[in-house]
Amino acid sequence: MDPLLHIKNLTVSIEDKNILKDVSLEIEPGKIYALMGPNGSGKSTLSKTVMGHPKYKVESGQIFAGGEDITAAGPDDRAKQGLFLSFQYPKTIPGVSLSNFLRSAYKSVKSEEIRVFDFKKKLKDKMETLSIPEYFADRHVNEGFSGGEKKKAEILQAMILDPKVIIMDETDSGLDVDALKIVAEGVKKLQTPDKAIILITHYFKILEYLTPDVVFVLKDGELVETGGSELAKEIEQNGFQKFGVTEVVEQPATEVVEKNEEEKSEPEEPSSPFAMID
Ligand SMILES: Nc1ncnc2c1ncn2[C@@H]1O[C@H](COP(=O)(O)OP(=O)(O)OP(=O)(O)O)[C@@H](O)[C@H]1O
Ligand SMILES: [Mg+2]
Repeated sequence: MDPLLHIKNLTVSIEDKNILKDVSLEIEPGKIYALMGPNGSGKSTLSKTVMGHPKYKVESGQIFAGGEDITAAGPDDRAKQGLFLSFQYPKTIPGVSLSNFLRSAYKSVKSEEIRVFDFKKKLKDKMETLSIPEYFADRHVNEGFSGGEKKKAEILQAMILDPKVIIMDETDSGLDVDALKIVAEGVKKLQTPDKAIILITHYFKILEYLTPDVVFVLKDGELVETGGSELAKEIEQNGFQKFGVTEVVEQPATEVVEKNEEEKSEPEEPSSPFAMID
C-alpha cells in the first residue's frame, strides 16, 4: 500500500535561499511521528511546502499523497486529499465566527453540504471533547484567543475536517500543563488506524503524553536522523548536541505565544488552505 505521505528527495528554496536539502521520508497510517530539530532547521518550511504554500519553491523532488503526485497541486486540493496543517502561528479572522469558519471549511474540504443544525451538533460534541466552552463557537476566529485557546481551536478544526495526515506545528508551545494534557488527549482522539499525526516540536513535554512511533530530526534543512521514541528521550537529555548544535532547549510549558515578526509582515500568506469563507 502507498504511504499516506511520501516526500521524495525534496529540495526547497525561499527567495533563492535553499532551505530544505534532499529530504525524503514516508508517513504511514496509524502512527504518530515527531519532527524535531533546532530553531530554523526547516520544520515549518517542510510542513508549509507539504501544504503547498506558494512562497516555498520546490527546486527538485516530489510529494505524494496516497500514491498521487501532489507536488504541483494547490493547497485546497491537498486539503481535499486529506492533508491538514495546524499552523505554528494561526491567523486571526475578524468578523468570522469560529462556527461559520469551520462549517465553510467543512463544506469546502468535504465537498458536501451540511445542515446548520447537524453541523452545530457535531461542533458541540467536538468542543466538549476538547473542553472548549460553548460560547467560543460565536467568537471570531482567534480574535483575542490566548495561545492555548488558539491551539485548541486548531485541533477542533482537525476534528471537524477529519484529515488523513495531521501536521501540528508546535502545538505544544504556549500551553500550560493542564491545557497541554487536554490538547494531547485531543490529539489522541484524532488518531485512528487510518490516520497519521506528525507533531512538530523541539520541546518534550507533549511527548510525555503522546509517544511517537518515529522521530525525525532535521538540521540545517537536512534530515539527519530517524529513530524511535528513544531518540526523543536522548534529545531531551542532551539537546541537539550530537548533531553539533549547542542550542539550549528550553521547556516552554508557560511560554506565551505571540505572532512573530515574519508572520506579522506577511499579509499575503493564505490564512489556511481551508479558509474558504462564504
Ligand atoms: N518566508 C520566509 N522568508 C525568508 N526566510 C524564511 C522564510 N521562512 C523560513 N525562512 C528561513 O528558513 C529557515 C528555516 O525556517 P523554519 O521556520 O522552517 O524553521 P523551524 O525549524 O520551523 O524553526 P522553529 O523551531 O523556530 O519554528 C530559517 O533560516 C528561516 O529564517
Ligand atoms: Mg517552526
